[in-house]
Amino acid sequence: MNTLEQLASLQQAALAEIAAASDATQVDELRVKHLGRRSQLRLIMGQIGAMPATERPALGKAAGQTQQALQDALEARAGALASPAHEPTFDVTLPGRRPAMGRLHPLARLIDELVDIFRGMGFELADGPEVEDEYHNFDALNTPADHPARDLHDTFYLTDGLLLRTHTSTVQIRVMEQTPPPVRVVSLGRVYRKEAVDATHHYAFHQIEGLYVDRGVSFADLKGTIEMMGRQLLGDRTRVRFRPHFFPFTEPSVEYDFSCSLCDGGVPGCRVCKGTGWIEIAGAGMVDPAVFTAVGYDPEVYTGFAFGMGLERIAMIRHGVDDIRLFLDGDLRFIRQL
Ligand code: DAH
Repeated sequence: MNTLEQLASLQQAALAEIAAASDATQVDELRVKHLGRRSQLRLIMGQIGAMPATERPALGKAAGQTQQALQDALEARAGALASPAHEPTFDVTLPGRRPAMGRLHPLARLIDELVDIFRGMGFELADGPEVEDEYHNFDALNTPADHPARDLHDTFYLTDGLLLRTHTSTVQIRVMEQTPPPVRVVSLGRVYRKEAVDATHHYAFHQIEGLYVDRGVSFADLKGTIEMMGRQLLGDRTRVRFRPHFFPFTEPSVEYDFSCSLCDGGVPGCRVCKGTGWIEIAGAGMVDPAVFTAVGYDPEVYTGFAFGMGLERIAMIRHGVDDIRLFLDGDLRFIRQL
């Protein structure tokens, strides 16, 4: 191997070692090894002076180039190792951190779903205030001040004859006051009652209200509408049962039940229906002529049905939740599970 070849192979080997250096200490050691006073390069450089004068310039030049190349490589490697990318501050094999994702509250999802179901049947969305007056909450709904039905709807009374609405039936009145028939609306929102709070009662909860008024609306329309809602909410096999009941604002009035979505018909001890096969859902009926009179509709011309239903109850059945308070606590650990 002549001197030029020696320089070339020395350079190649040194560059490979420098590229493989994994920390600053190793880079320093390689600097001493390849550029230090006892390095092979220095040895060769020392010998050049004794070479024939014709070869010296070329050899000197080649040795200088090798020296420069090694210096550059050492500097570049030291710089790269000092940069943050090579500073292993975390374990790259760990799984990434999942960004915190929000999600809809189970009641908000139920509301969206009900809106979809009723839009599909031609209902529009209506809204009304949670702070109401006695007239819209009671009187216009055929419930005068001395009516015993008011006892079941004790609420929070504010000043100036205002109160927190006890049901969404108030929206029926507000819609009919402002819109001539026909009307077909649903309204969803929060209602309040003066309840002692326990696992099945709360002073604030949610309802959906439906109202359909036109010429010739019959109880059969009510049945069909409720059945359609039941199937879409709890599955195709859901059946509906109507029981006679009383509400001041409907005549006749009913309560309706859905067949149990869990056991589908009376498995003893079923935790959703308690073995009866039915789950009590809500109230409904044909709008009382007195209500039509209160809003200026002619009861001789128009008929209509109305229904009202608690949303927490449906959500509890769907998600197997046994404490209504969880829906209003705002505890994310609960919401994340549903
Ligand atoms: N407003 C009633 C309640 O909160 C529920 C209800 C029953 C609403 C019958 C209606 C209805 O529209 O027709 O207990």
